[in-house]
This record gives sequence, C-alpha cells and structure tokens, in this order.
Amino acid sequence: MFKQTPAPVPADGLAAALAPFGQSRMLPREAYVDPKVFDWEKQNIFGGWHCVGHAGDLDGVGAQKAVGSGSDGILLVRGEDGRVRAFANVCRHRGHELLACGASAKRRGIICPYHSWSYKLNGELRNAPAFDGISGPDPVEFGLTELALVDWHGYLFVDPSGSDGDFALHIAGLEEVVGPYRTEDLRVVARHSYELDTNWKVIVENYQECYHCSTIHPELSKISPPTSGENIDLPGDWMGGWMGMIDEAETMSLSGRSGGVAIKGLSEHELRTVMYLVGFPNLLVSLHPDYVMTHLMTPLAVDRTHVECAWAFPREALDKPGFDPSYAVDFWDLTNRQDWAACESVQRGLSSPHAQPGPLAPDEDGVYQFVTRVARAYMGSR
Ligand code: FES
Ligand SMILES: [Fe+2]
Repeated sequence: MFKQTPAPVPADGLAAALAPFGQSRMLPREAYVDPKVFDWEKQNIFGGWHCVGHAGDLDGVGAQKAVGSGSDGILLVRGEDGRVRAFANVCRHRGHELLACGASAKRRGIICPYHSWSYKLNGELRNAPAFDGISGPDPVEFGLTELALVDWHGYLFVDPSGSDGDFALHIAGLEEVVGPYRTEDLRVVARHSYELDTNWKVIVENYQECYHCSTIHPELSKISPPTSGENIDLPGDWMGGWMGMIDEAETMSLSGRSGGVAIKGLSEHELRTVMYLVGFPNLLVSLHPDYVMTHLMTPLAVDRTHVECAWAFPREALDKPGFDPSYAVDFWDLTNRQDWAACESVQRGLSSPHAQPGPLAPDEDGVYQFVTRVARAYMGSR
C-alpha cells in the first residue's frame, strides 16, 4: 500500500472506533472537521483507486473529459483503440491544464489551449509549434503522464499513486454481485448534481444504514421496510447490503410501480431487492430490478462535497414508447434531499467543540464496516 504517514487523528479515538461492534464509537470528530485530516485523505485515500466517472460519458474515439481539479486534475480520453486512458491534466510544456475542469471535448488529438502543443490520443506528443526539427522535444519523453485506469462494468477507476495494488483485490467478491446487472450496457438518462455542506464520509455513513429511514424517509419506508435485508461480507475494499421491497412493489418509486423494464437475467432475489454498495471510497451503487443509480462523490473541502447522481436504464426501457425515467428520478431526488438535509445537519453538529463520537445501534453494522475501514486506513493499513 502507498501509505506514507498515519493520519493526524488521535490514536485513542481510532482504537475506540476499532473496538468490536457493539462497543465501538464513531470516528474522532477531527475526521470530519479538521482540514489536515482532509488533506491526508486526499493524498492517501483518494490517491489510490477511486471512481472518476462512467465509461459511457466518453462516447466514441477522441472523446475527452476533465475531472477533478488542481492536484487531482485528470484528463480522460478515449483512444483510437477504443480504450479509455487517464492522464494528469497538465501540459508538458509549461503546465497549463489541457481541458478546463469539468469540460468535455471530442477531437482526434489533445490540444493545449495555451501554446497549442498537441498530443495523440495515446498521450504521445504530436507537435510543438515553432520548435525546429533538431531542437524539438522528443514525442515520447514529453508525452502526457498516464495514470493507472480500469474500466470495470462501465465505471472508470483511477489509481493516481500507481501503487495502490491490484485492482482485482480492490473489487474482490463483487463480480457476482454487480455482474448480473450488466451495468456496462445500461444508459445514463438522468443526472442531478448536488453540492453539499458536509464531509464526504457523513454521506457514506448515512447511505450505510436505514436506522434513519422511518424518521426521515416516509415515502421510502412505505416501499422498502427499513429493517429488511442484511449486509454482505466482501473480501475487498467495497461494502454494502441489500434491502427488500413490499410484495406489491416492483421497484423503488413513489407508487412502487416501474415505468421501465426489469434488467434481463436477474434472479428472483435480485428482482425483489435493492443492493446498496459502497465502492470505497467515493462511489455508491444502488442496484434496482429495473435501473441502477449511482452517487459519485468528489470531496471539495473537509465540509463540502460534490455529488453527481446518475440513473441508468436498460436499452429496452428506453425503447418503450413514452418512456419517462421520472418514476425513479423523482423518488430518489426526494429521498436524496431528505438525506442531504440530515447530512448537512450532522456536519454542523460535529463542528461544535462539544461533539463526541457516539455508539452505534445494532442496525448500524454497515456504518461500522465503513468506519473501521477508514480507521484502518488512518493507521496505514487496509
Ligand atoms: S503550456 Fe501547453 S502549450 Fe504551453
Ligand atoms: Fe437515507
């Protein structure tokens, strides 16, 4: 693992978080409010495998998209060979960003907007204007810096450190969980972008439990009983669990009805449940019988997180005359906003110097999975 120094978090607090379930405490308050801990996480947790987007966002040869910014700036490019590559979003001349943060482009080369150096889609330098042939920079030596990238079931993961280990270990045990939904074949047809005044971990912790559902999600609780389901044990870095739906419901929507079609080939169990996964650290994947919702989190500051929520459907649903994804989008937008209000309130609460790490309820074993994973990372292990 690429850890250098342990996180600047009190050791007794970490020991309390790592105590056996039932006796443990939440992470020390510093984990949510101290900018030094945030900087450590950016370098050490987000410096390893994390999700940077959907492969479907890079449609066709030459498609380019800039994600992250500053030290995390990454340029995603689909090459002549159809493969998506990730490069550090920095020109080899004098360091201009190749594409502005969040921008997309589609062309047969990568062109720096400053002095027009151009690169091939594989990152090799193609042309540096006005250098003569003899003193011109070497195309390979001055090629873009490529980062490790894996396209797994249509989700793109990057390891900027290059030393976070084998990706297969990171997603160990998930092939049989995610594979049946064939997420690589689904189409994202709706997206919502939210900017929350909360730490990224508060969002994951909230996602990992339904202890709060009966209080803040009356609509959800009608369709999916809050105490249904169970968490699964995964050997890699991901975690999560499933929940059931009432017999009358086909999916998660206000009425319980689906406006789409079930994803082909799912098992009886998969058709009656929703699987909620945390792709550690920043991707939440909610596998429904007829659609897949993802939340992609980009931490902006210790108390600010950008969340992009995307809804993907099978092609057969899109072919249905008058198909309208709002049955899924509206349901989850309402639920998201209920969650975001709670998460922002937790952040404000934790900013109090009187905040202290509390104990976890029996229904919060999913939170325990996440908290202990983070606590271990703070100590420099997995
Ligand atoms: S900085 Fe990119 S061409 Fe000069
Ligand atoms: Fe919730």
